[in-house]
Amino acid sequence: MINLSELDNNQKTSLANSAFLKSCRGESTDHKPIWLMRQAGRYQKEFQNIRKKVSLLELCKRPDLVSEVTLLPVQQLNVDAAIIFADILLPLDAMGAGLSYVEGKGPVIENAVSSLADMANLKTIEPNDLNYVMDAIKLTRQNLKADIPLIGFAGAPFTLVSYLVEGGSTRDFKKTKLFMYKQSDVFHALMETISEFTWRYLNEQINAGVQAIQLFDSWVGCLSPSDYKQFVLPYSKKIFDNVKKSTTSISHIPAIHFATSSYGLLELMREAGGDVFGVDWRAPIDNAWQKIGHDRAIQGNLDPHVLFADKKMILEKTKEILRATKDKHGHIFNLGHGVLPATSVDNVKYLVEIVHDLGGNK
Ligand code: CP3
Repeated sequence: MINLSELDNNQKTSLANSAFLKSCRGESTDHKPIWLMRQAGRYQKEFQNIRKKVSLLELCKRPDLVSEVTLLPVQQLNVDAAIIFADILLPLDAMGAGLSYVEGKGPVIENAVSSLADMANLKTIEPNDLNYVMDAIKLTRQNLKADIPLIGFAGAPFTLVSYLVEGGSTRDFKKTKLFMYKQSDVFHALMETISEFTWRYLNEQINAGVQAIQLFDSWVGCLSPSDYKQFVLPYSKKIFDNVKKSTTSISHIPAIHFATSSYGLLELMREAGGDVFGVDWRAPIDNAWQKIGHDRAIQGNLDPHVLFADKKMILEKTKEILRATKDKHGHIFNLGHGVLPATSVDNVKYLVEIVHDLGGNK
């Protein structure tokens, strides 16, 4: 097992000069970098074959399989970064919330939280309760091409609390919002506990060998800017501040701040922190970038459904994004949300190819 500090200087230099990390820093690159959220998943038959043998939770706890699955998209698609295969809900499993993934239904939390007493039943967790993630990072860093950065990640407190309170996926976030308004003290206490854990968890991932981190606040776009400011911003800010503080000695590890439906929140998300902002397709990427400010990098924002269309449409929609980000440094091409399960691998490969071919200056 190696640690980042054990990477030799040549490798550190080639990683630092990768198109992905240069773009995170807003520097010019020889080609436009691209990686895809959920780039390892059910749309790949190799992944399906592994999933026939083990459940998602078992997979996440097997560093050998995690490493194999993490490398798949790098080998198959030629993407510019790998993301460690894990799930944002793993801390809830360690807390004893009764996490399972149910076919056709998604994540289910058996011990959903609706009171202070429910919260008190959750275990206090430490990053080393998820040591299997750190082991997987160390192994993957060893197996990954020397010039491909590895991204670590965590769920943001609001998004994790929404799963804890709803007991699974939701469309309207009704329980979460009522909990936030009517039991604000318990809501704040949960946000505090989760944010304290999260910055330490991300720092452990950095120590284990990732070159960038992403905070997934996937569902925070359901909130008004005022509620974001009051109920979320201080906790996300604490995470970015603390991750930053402890990484300056290692060399700067860029932090990506991602949410969907976030157009009305972008200025506040910037205030919370992050070097790169992940945005979805609900706003034109140049407008979003304008709001964030061009002194920060941007990531996105193709609608994942475009990958179900024919190549002509994929090309057209991709060119729109390339045109809107042309002549600026600091754009990392990605989807606006994860790759969908039935996506054609061929179309994903095509997307990576055209971004690499045309991304520079067309
Ligand atoms: O991007 C990657 O390749 C890394 C792997 C990854 C997974 N989950 C694996 C996974 C990442 C980055 C995540 C993050 C995640 N998980 C988010 C944030 C991103 C987003 O989509 O908003 C969220 C909200 C979750 C929670 C979660 N996990 C849901 C809602 C589901 C079910 C959705 C589905 O597609 O069925 C999961 C399960 C999950 N996590 C799968 C994968 C590959 C599908 C598992 C399977 O059945 O094989």
